[in-house]
Amino acid sequence: MLARRRALLGLLAAAAALLPCVCSAPPVSADEEFHFKSWMLQNNRKYSLEEYYQRLQIFVANKRRIDRHNAGNHTFEMGLNQFSDMTFTEVRKKYLWSEPQNCSATKGNFLASSGPCPSAIDWRKKGNYVTPVKNQGGCGSCWTFSTTGCLESAIAIATGKLLSLAEQQLVDCAQDFNNHGCSGGLPSQAFEYILYNKGLQGEDTYPYKAQNGTCKFQPEKAIAFVKDVVNITLYDEPGMVEAVGKHNPVSFAFEVTGDFVSYSKGIYSNPTCDKTPDKVNHAVLAVGYGEENGTPYWIVKNSWGPLWGMDGYFLIERGKNMCGLAACASYPIPQV
Ligand SMILES: *[C@@H]1O[C@H](CO)[C@@H](O)[C@H](O)[C@H]1NC(C)=O
Ligand SMILES: *[C@@H]1O[C@H](CO)[C@@H](O)[C@H](O)[C@H]1NC(C)=O
Ligand SMILES: *[C@@H]1O[C@H](CO)[C@@H](O)[C@H](O)[C@H]1NC(C)=O
Ligand SMILES: *[C@@H]1O[C@H](CO)[C@@H](O)[C@H](O)[C@H]1NC(C)=O
Repeated sequence: MLARRRALLGLLAAAAALLPCVCSAPPVSADEEFHFKSWMLQNNRKYSLEEYYQRLQIFVANKRRIDRHNAGNHTFEMGLNQFSDMTFTEVRKKYLWSEPQNCSATKGNFLASSGPCPSAIDWRKKGNYVTPVKNQGGCGSCWTFSTTGCLESAIAIATGKLLSLAEQQLVDCAQDFNNHGCSGGLPSQAFEYILYNKGLQGEDTYPYKAQNGTCKFQPEKAIAFVKDVVNITLYDEPGMVEAVGKHNPVSFAFEVTGDFVSYSKGIYSNPTCDKTPDKVNHAVLAVGYGEENGTPYWIVKNSWGPLWGMDGYFLIERGKNMCGLAACASYPIPQV
């Protein structure tokens, strides 16, 4: 009995040694490898031979997941993009917050105003109020882009002048407000920094480097100022609608999971992502909202470049605290 079992185990081990992959995924087809090679060309990727085979496996796993998703009945589509040769673990390490942030705006100081909100709004279409989509690169600095995007729009709405503001100053200088450069931070804390620092420079005088650096702030070059910071109460998504509908775009954070990385269009929705402030890992900017076929959504500016998603934007289901999007929202009152 024991001998037979040992022989069987030996046989299995021999079979496993013959087949490098005894898992259930079918081997990479010629078609899939061709697809990978054209993706490499489009995305300017070059690898060593060893890395080529490793990236090919990851790419094919991502592509199959995308195809499976798109064959199903979902409110959003997935597609290949600049992240398609990376595992989610790699994306998380390079682009998202590694640790939970102090997203503790449980008590908002937002004053509700009277009157109805518009049923839909898109600040990109109301005037020259939103700067082009930027790219954070391989640095967990999403919070700086959410911050500059929000302040840029708030100033443009207040003054008619659209500035492009310096993320790198926030990366380099905002540590005293619990921010950690390429390792994460929060828009509400960055607005506090700008308020107490008395100003933020422009992209032109303090260019973005996508890495931690030392603070080079020059007060005489500051062009944007904050008078007050508004935190929206924890889980008050109607409060976010009111802020975006009546005032300006709003910074918020949510939990990015593997499927979101491959988002290409439609209304993102996920029944299993987390909804609590300790789980959010990416900050972005709500520039509007609307509704399609009975599904309400937010229009959101991301910082992964204009080639990701819908020209750098995505829609996400509204009204359900989807992936914790109402856990950590804020905006600045600009000093103009
Ligand atoms: C797709 O899902 C929606 C809502 O979940 C449902 O109303 C619709 O009938 C489904 N369509 C198909 C073709 O299954
Ligand atoms: C959260 O706040 C505490 C106290 O202010 C601070 O020590 C800690 O570093 C903060 N954590 C993060 C991730 O910012
Ligand atoms: C960036 O600098 C912050 C301090 O400002 C530090 O906490 C963090 O670990 C650094 N991150 C990287 C990726 O070097
Ligand atoms: C807003 O929240 C931040 C933390 O995210 C906190 O430091 C700040 O004091 C809050 N501001 C107000 C006015 O409540």
